[in-house]
Amino acid sequence: MKKDTILVTGGTGYIGSHTVVELQQAGYHVVIIDDLSNSNVDVLDGIERITGIRPDFVEGDCTDMAVVKDLFAKYPGIKGIINFAASKAVGESMQKPILYYRNNLNTLMNLLDMMAEHGVKGIVFSSSCTVYGEPDENPVTEAAPIKKATSPYGNTKQISEEIITDVINAGAPFKSVILRYFNPVGAHQSAEIGELPNGVPQNLIPYVTQAAMGIRKELSVFGDDYDTPDGSCIRDYINVVDLAKAHVIAVERMLEDKSEAKIEIFNLGTGVGLSVLELISAFERATGVKVPHKIVGRRAGDIEKVWANPAYANEVLGWKAETPIEDTMRSAWNWQCRLRERGIM
Ligand code: UFG
Repeated sequence: MKKDTILVTGGTGYIGSHTVVELQQAGYHVVIIDDLSNSNVDVLDGIERITGIRPDFVEGDCTDMAVVKDLFAKYPGIKGIINFAASKAVGESMQKPILYYRNNLNTLMNLLDMMAEHGVKGIVFSSSCTVYGEPDENPVTEAAPIKKATSPYGNTKQISEEIITDVINAGAPFKSVILRYFNPVGAHQSAEIGELPNGVPQNLIPYVTQAAMGIRKELSVFGDDYDTPDGSCIRDYINVVDLAKAHVIAVERMLEDKSEAKIEIFNLGTGVGLSVLELISAFERATGVKVPHKIVGRRAGDIEKVWANPAYANEVLGWKAETPIEDTMRSAWNWQCRLRERGIM
């Protein structure tokens, strides 16, 4: 029997596409809306090759209420939403704050506005460990204080969490699960979908795989004078498929009313912090391919160290990030090789 219809905004993007695969494999009917501003429609082919099912797709911008209304008119059976549609480059958000506030906040508000009248039971929201800023202690639990955002991007995540909370506290007849991701990395094990950065990658792993491929001369390691064992920054790198699976559990939780709480917040990470230099070693060990790199100065705005305490998600969701980092690194490399085979990069 086919399960309910789930709307995935930003579903052709990096985390979105991996989540669509897991939703379909769990039996859900998926409708994607994406404006393709930072993704490619060919992603639908990759999803179909993995799952045998082509998700319904609408090309559209959710900041436009008319578009969102048309979408709900076309698919009246939507029972849950996962909202990935957002701009996500920290640096760009410093240059174009209005773009970030408009895209990220208007999209969320338009969706929330439509949920009650269409009987949607819940919304999963993509938040980030960025809300913790530089945490006072690691690993970080959900109870850690929210620190002042250091970029408009980060601020949109904080404000979005507040908007959801205010709307639900005002009596909206639906639930929300807010997921605070640590650093999502890797690709689907089939190498049919993965991360496709626009232009020069800003994030570590796409830069690592491109440097390993020879597309970039060398990776710049931003700083080796931090207060960490090897001096480079520490993050919690979580496999994107593990992360995607948590969304399926979150959706089920809301649709099946498994929790009394109307709003729940979970950290999604592995619980293990790895430094930039450790990650490079893990990549080289896993793939046998060298990553040319040099140490350069610190990048403005970087957090020194942050990793998750995922105990609450482990316990309450019955979910755990399980993929070993070496497997994740191999998946990222296989994806890079696939892009090369296809002449994309
Ligand atoms: N890094 C390098 N060289 C690079 C790129 C990154 O050394 O070329 C280092 C960074 O200094 C950092 C680590 O690799 O120590 C990870 O950097 P990322 O840019 O991959 O990710 P961030 O931890 O900076 O994450 C931030 C926000 C997230 C957001 C993400 C996406 O905290 O919320 O950027 O842009 F989702």
